[in-house]
Amino acid sequence: MKKFKSIIVYFSPAGTTRRIADLIAKTLNKSSHEIEILDMGDPCSDTDFHTLKNRLKEGDCLWIGSPIYTGHAVPPVEKFISKLPESKGVFAVPFVTYGAVTSGVGLYEMGMQLARRGFLILGAAKILAIHSMLWFSKNPPGNGHPGQDDEKQVKSLIKSVVKKIIDPDAGNSIDPKILNYQPIKVKERAKTWNITLLRQKMPPMKLDKKKCTKCSICAERCPVQNISLNPWPKIGDNCLLCFNCIRYCEPKALTNENLGGMEDIIQTRMLECGEPAETKIFI
Ligand SMILES: Cc1cc2nc3c(=O)[nH]c(=O)nc-3n(C[C@H](O)[C@H](O)[C@H](O)COP(=O)(O)O)c2cc1C
Repeated sequence: MKKFKSIIVYFSPAGTTRRIADLIAKTLNKSSHEIEILDMGDPCSDTDFHTLKNRLKEGDCLWIGSPIYTGHAVPPVEKFISKLPESKGVFAVPFVTYGAVTSGVGLYEMGMQLARRGFLILGAAKILAIHSMLWFSKNPPGNGHPGQDDEKQVKSLIKSVVKKIIDPDAGNSIDPKILNYQPIKVKERAKTWNITLLRQKMPPMKLDKKKCTKCSICAERCPVQNISLNPWPKIGDNCLLCFNCIRYCEPKALTNENLGGMEDIIQTRMLECGEPAETKIFI
């Protein structure tokens, strides 16, 4: 049987995209192919695109996963793909997790970016997930996802991709244009909405020094290493608004006054977008 290598790269502040990346690794492992799994949020992970270039050869496959933030893949993933070298004959499978509001244009943008770099897209997936911004809610959008049915779909994507790699007669790469599935109104909004603008709209995180124990958990949980301790936590300019710093702050010293109000905004946005809350694979 033809052997190929898979590198699975993902970014996952709240852990759902990581779960999918692990599922991909586990499923591929059963077919005993060589696998590397890289977490972009882990400073020790070797996601340097220069070394990646030497590790991915023609016929190998890059699986790349991102959460959807404000309708796009997160900036570290966009940046990572934009720096990938020209990779003729290397396969790629982009996947996104989204919190039941809208999967936006993230998957399409990732697919197009990868195709422009010469990757052949063998498949893609948008995966329904619990909304990570509303972890405190009693009933967050996407609650209970990804569940078994979502995972089943991801497994059939993997099966199809493996088949395409090892058996050239099994099918072709997909045209990334099929990932351009959103209605015009969602695409138009995506042109003028992104994480930088959301950051400008959100008030800064507030620190209550009376409660803060300087335990450094906020800094450790920040997936972009954007919190310095001197000695109080200070949030830098690269905040992604994942809110891990607030979520994992045990003494509740960090807060954001707009976070509670986000639930209504997100529910309204969900109705406006009208995207069926589902996992979908493209093969
Ligand atoms: C700042 C922010 C923006 C988000 N924007 C969207 C969005 O536009 N559409 C959506 O459906 N979910 C959105 N989500 C939810 C995440 O896409 C979803 O929970 C994802 O699975 C999180 O991945 P992770 O657990 O790997 O971090 C957003 C979450 C955050 C924190």
